[in-house]
Amino acid sequence: MSIGLSGCDFLKMLDLTPRQIRGLVKLSARLKAMKKAGEPHRFLEGKNIVLLFEKTSTRTRSSFEVAGRDLGMGVVCMDEGSSQMGTKESIADTARVLCRMYDGIEYRGYGQELVEELAEYSSVPVWNGLTTESHPTQMIADLLTIQENFPGGFEGLKLVFMGDAQNNVANSLMVTCAKMGMHFVACGPAEQMPMPSLVEKARMIAVETGGSVTLTPSVEEACTGADIIYTDIWVSMGEPFEIWGERIRLLSPYQVNAQAMAYAKPEAIFLHCLPSYHDAKTKVGAQILEQFGIAEMEVTDAVFESAQSKVFDQAENRMHSIKAIMYATLASDK
Ligand code: CP
Ligand code: NVA
Repeated sequence: MSIGLSGCDFLKMLDLTPRQIRGLVKLSARLKAMKKAGEPHRFLEGKNIVLLFEKTSTRTRSSFEVAGRDLGMGVVCMDEGSSQMGTKESIADTARVLCRMYDGIEYRGYGQELVEELAEYSSVPVWNGLTTESHPTQMIADLLTIQENFPGGFEGLKLVFMGDAQNNVANSLMVTCAKMGMHFVACGPAEQMPMPSLVEKARMIAVETGGSVTLTPSVEEACTGADIIYTDIWVSMGEPFEIWGERIRLLSPYQVNAQAMAYAKPEAIFLHCLPSYHDAKTKVGAQILEQFGIAEMEVTDAVFESAQSKVFDQAENRMHSIKAIMYATLASDK
């Protein structure tokens, strides 16, 4: 099966057709099965990739590193501060140097325009490992996880995103659901809703696919009949700590808790891209507990640990899906 992404960048979900997205999910499932069966798949032997991280990461970095090695590639990782990029060398120059040495470049950082510029000046595929506006590699893992739980197909499934509905993950989910013919609901306060221009684009896509995009402040309306309830942290990387007080005030009514899950279908699943503040066992979590008196934020510990929660399958699927993205963009189309 040719996905038609050979030599292409992977920058945002708007760039992909529904067929390409389905192809990536199918390829992810195949590569996952091969890994589980212990079947070698060093399809990209001899190639080299570089991973640029201007923001921290556990899953995305591990996924690119393990997937790259499983595919037979050499993998180099550069953290913030360990390269010249941004301080002594522009994005354009960095791109023109790195593409002379590597076959693919991953970038995690701030504005979407940075990864787009990197791609413009690079002659090899560039993969967006998260920007302030989008998180496209996360989407293929999420769809794989959804498919594993709802094998009947994506069309018609209702996915509710609770909380900070204007962050990178929410933006990408809205577009992804629209492309897959799913019903996307953003549930949160008016202050944290996705940008109207992106909502409009997603709605236009949904008209074609039979999906829909709804914005609502009502948890009951949003979660009733939901198949998937999804949330993310209330303050994203790059936002100042001082914003926590305001976000807690705005977003506390949108915590995923037993009541929200009770509105959903009995077979509904809970997803979260992670990391998550479901308890106070982290430095930031402990600081928030001390300052604001709350230990559970976007999701309660009970929901996070429940049988409906598929967050660790989802985290594992990051690796299989990033492998598929690299394979589809680096291998020649058959
Ligand atoms: N979900 C996700 O991107 O996790 P990391 O920030 O750990 O990469
Ligand atoms: N919205 C989160 C996602 C982390 C994977 C952030 O940008 O920090």
